[in-house]
Amino acid sequence: MEVIRVENAWKVYPDGTRALKGVSLEVNRGDFIGVMGPSGSGKSTLLHLMGGLDKPSEGEVYLFKKPLSPMREDELAEFRKRRVAYIFQFYYLLEDFSVLENLTLIAQMLGIESPEDKALKILEFLRLSHRLEHKPYQLSGGEQQRVAIGRALISEPAVILADEPTGNIDWEEGRRIFELFRKLNEEEGITFVVATHNPDLKPFFHRIVNLKDGEML
Ligand SMILES: Nc1ncnc2c1ncn2[C@@H]1O[C@H](COP(=O)(O)OP(=O)(O)OP(=O)(O)O)[C@@H](O)[C@H]1O
Ligand SMILES: [Mg+2]
Repeated sequence: MEVIRVENAWKVYPDGTRALKGVSLEVNRGDFIGVMGPSGSGKSTLLHLMGGLDKPSEGEVYLFKKPLSPMREDELAEFRKRRVAYIFQFYYLLEDFSVLENLTLIAQMLGIESPEDKALKILEFLRLSHRLEHKPYQLSGGEQQRVAIGRALISEPAVILADEPTGNIDWEEGRRIFELFRKLNEEEGITFVVATHNPDLKPFFHRIVNLKDGEML
């Protein structure tokens, strides 16, 4: 079943940077895809388009077969709920809220049952139980990144788009997290698209999309 389809997507930023030059790609349910390429090759840009967080300058992105470009911002936000969760390269946590609230507030907004129990379980797995009441600014980079991962996991989405999700986490911890991703992929059918330049992650991917200067190799 088709989950995401990117059709001849171009992205030209307002300053004229051509970040994507005609990328086409299909993601099916149950895929675990790696998007790889050097810094600046367009990985984050592609993931943003795939999640409907930004629009292509040309071309179209279909999410669950629905073209995203005609949708209004509010329609898109509603449509994304429970379908896509995004792990941002730079986290974007709710700064005024605690670690625990960063998960429970999202879960409540999405209508997920027993948010606190689920949040505590996820945060325990992510080894953050001793940081529940801390605010993001009181955490290390890797801890903030783990909160961002927790927020995606509690959303129980069909697809997780993860932008360098373990870039600030040591390899042992990162591998544990990827093993959980693999389990969720195999057992719950959650589709993953992961942008990374970490070659150690290659064994987790079913398929690798290589980007260079905004083009697929
Ligand atoms: N808002 C923006 N305005 C102008 N140029 C941008 C903008 N965002 C990204 N770019 C440029 O677009 C290109 C692709 O950027 P992108 O962030 O997608 O790369 P990336 O592959 O994710 O890199 P990294 O591995 O460093 O995260 C780069 O040349 C970058 O400088
Ligand atoms: Mg990036």
